[in-house]
Amino acid sequence: MSSKSKPLVFVAREIPEEAVQEVQRHCRVRAWRKREPPSRDALLDGVSGADGLLCSLSERVDREIFDAAPGLKVVSNMAVGYDNVDVAEATRRRIPVGNTPGVLTETTADLAFGIMLACARHIVDGDLTVRSGKWRFWDPLGFLGEDVHGATLGIIGFGKIGVAMARRAKGFGMEILYYDLVRRRNIETELDVKFASLDRLLSRSDFVTIHTDLNPKTHHLIDTKRLGLMKKNCIVVNTARGPIVDSSALYRALKEGRIGGAALDVTEPEPLPADHPLLSLENVLVTPHIASGSRATRTKMAMLAADNLLSGLRGHRLPYCVNPEVYRES
Ligand code: DGY
Repeated sequence: MSSKSKPLVFVAREIPEEAVQEVQRHCRVRAWRKREPPSRDALLDGVSGADGLLCSLSERVDREIFDAAPGLKVVSNMAVGYDNVDVAEATRRRIPVGNTPGVLTETTADLAFGIMLACARHIVDGDLTVRSGKWRFWDPLGFLGEDVHGATLGIIGFGKIGVAMARRAKGFGMEILYYDLVRRRNIETELDVKFASLDRLLSRSDFVTIHTDLNPKTHHLIDTKRLGLMKKNCIVVNTARGPIVDSSALYRALKEGRIGGAALDVTEPEPLPADHPLLSLENVLVTPHIASGSRATRTKMAMLAADNLLSGLRGHRLPYCVNPEVYRES
């Protein structure tokens, strides 16, 4: 792209510098320069007249945004999930939408496994007790948790991250069940994991970990009825998207002791307000949507988002496009 004809892009979040520099080499960049996400008005202002948008999961990209940027050629979302983007509307306007799968798989599974262990073994509340000076003696009955090794893990959504979770669980000698719309027979044999219906998985597992995307069919997939199928000691782990679990139903199940605990990196709503009932419960651990948050992975995500953005601006197929229908001849 010659400097005269360089396209204008709006980079809607502060992202790793390498990616900004890469975009700057080829584009005129209008960048949001604050750590918090832009307000709706700032997003509309930023995108107006832009040829490309590089955004994150915090920005709602819908008809109003597309109307504000009639020349928009590409939306590049720096996340694997893209429930923040109205993909149907983008497709209608033949705008490709990019995401960043693959590069965050292992990092996300690390965190999912970590919060599962932390919740099962009271690692966070144990630490807080020591820090606050409340720990006075070793107690044979204190902080008793659940064994992770040898327990049964139910994985909902057996894509890349679900499989990465299964690999970790193998190392802990866990029995593994999975549920997905697609059966993965080759991995069943390789990792000795068993396919189960969702109801069977929920009723058999000691830990249930969620790795599916959020869409109208998975919204509140884990509701009162499904929580009711779980074992009394079951710990629910969610690193996917908050609204897959009905927060009010989860609160009631935890409060009434119908399940054992919850380890949540994503919540409904997000962020969870400090006075939210879930945060009054000791058997709940919440982290601030950091599953992909290693330095290396966030840089890879940003570089991939830059790559998607630049490809879209050049009229090339995006390396990772969630609506490839836009490339079909009409
Ligand atoms: C994603 O990529 O969708 C995660 O939620 C943030 O990394």
